Amino acid sequence: MISVANRLAHIEEYYFSMKLREVAALKAKGRPIINLGIGSPDLDPPERVLNGLVEAFEDPSAHKYQSYQGTPELREAIAGFYKKQFDVQLDASKNILPLMGSKEGILHISMAFLNPGDEVLIPNPGYPTYASVTNLVGATPVYYDLEASNNWHPDLLTLEKNGLEKVKLMWVNYPHMPTGAIASNKLFDNLIAFAKRNNILLVNDNPYSFVLNPFPRSILKYKGAKETCLELNSLSKTFNMAGWRVGMVLGHEHYLKAILKVKSNMDSGMFLGIQRGAIEALECSELWFGSLNSVYEKRRQIVWQIADALKCTYDKSATGMFVWAKLPEHIDAEDYVDLILEERSVFIAPGTIFGSNGIGYIRISLCAEIEELEEALKRLS
Ligand SMILES: Cc1ncc(COP(=O)(O)O)c(C=O)c1O
Repeated sequence: MISVANRLAHIEEYYFSMKLREVAALKAKGRPIINLGIGSPDLDPPERVLNGLVEAFEDPSAHKYQSYQGTPELREAIAGFYKKQFDVQLDASKNILPLMGSKEGILHISMAFLNPGDEVLIPNPGYPTYASVTNLVGATPVYYDLEASNNWHPDLLTLEKNGLEKVKLMWVNYPHMPTGAIASNKLFDNLIAFAKRNNILLVNDNPYSFVLNPFPRSILKYKGAKETCLELNSLSKTFNMAGWRVGMVLGHEHYLKAILKVKSNMDSGMFLGIQRGAIEALECSELWFGSLNSVYEKRRQIVWQIADALKCTYDKSATGMFVWAKLPEHIDAEDYVDLILEERSVFIAPGTIFGSNGIGYIRISLCAEIEELEEALKRLS
């Protein structure tokens, strides 16, 4: 057998890629598994999105390669969305690059800005892809602690004291997954000042803004952000379009040109129908957000009851499509999650997959119908 590349030495298969195989195998044996592990929205996208997709088939250019930068119409729709939702003014020809999901943006940004040996600040707990991609490009993850006692915000003073000479990039993710914490105005101001002082590219990964969040914010709205920040966003959670793979990176054209150098060598544009559907989503009225959140609100009531049944504590002011719940002392999250899967056929994510500060926590997804959540509650009560 041919050996694999050295860069894979520190990379594991994604936890959910492995675990969902196990869950699928149990299902195939007839086990009635309820999956509350992953955040794959189960609700429909806005109806007009499907019209946008279908109508694109009438366009003779639909089957051709598309622009590496997305169509001008899609970029304009993103600019309109950012203006309307965040009051951020973006130039559609300079500050917006559509992506195939925000996840790919994490790799593109890392490839565009990191050299082997560069250090990258990564939230603990946080989305595991930041660290795996950092390893893939030969840079070094440096985890920063997020703790409940500090509202899951970083302690920038301590970080600065520890020396940041080799740090080139910092990932932040507010609203934060998995905790549901949001940034304050002060935190964003402080982060931007911190990034400037230390010559760090600050990237806010922002796909959860519109889920049960009364204060949607973009870091690009804050003073000084355009010189030192990028933002990733996505239609996956906002419009229930995770499988469509539509995301975007926003920021200064200097940064976007570098990312385009990477991206244009990796794919050959996004299918036109998907772009047309995405435009329809971005142009939805405010009613969309209300209807989305009224469903999640009802679901969250039951998920809170599930967390109560497991004797967990949790923060009712947290946002997002998960409930991040602290287990009673001395319970090992991974063992407990396996036990629940084995004995009650309910799959929940252990907090440890998001880093060592997830020890003692579980993450319960709101991406399941009320009936399934009620059944899970019955099984776990
Ligand atoms: C924090 C965070 N960032 C990025 C993503 C990727 O989202 P997508 O690639 O679907 O836009 C996810 C997906 O779960 C996430 O939780």
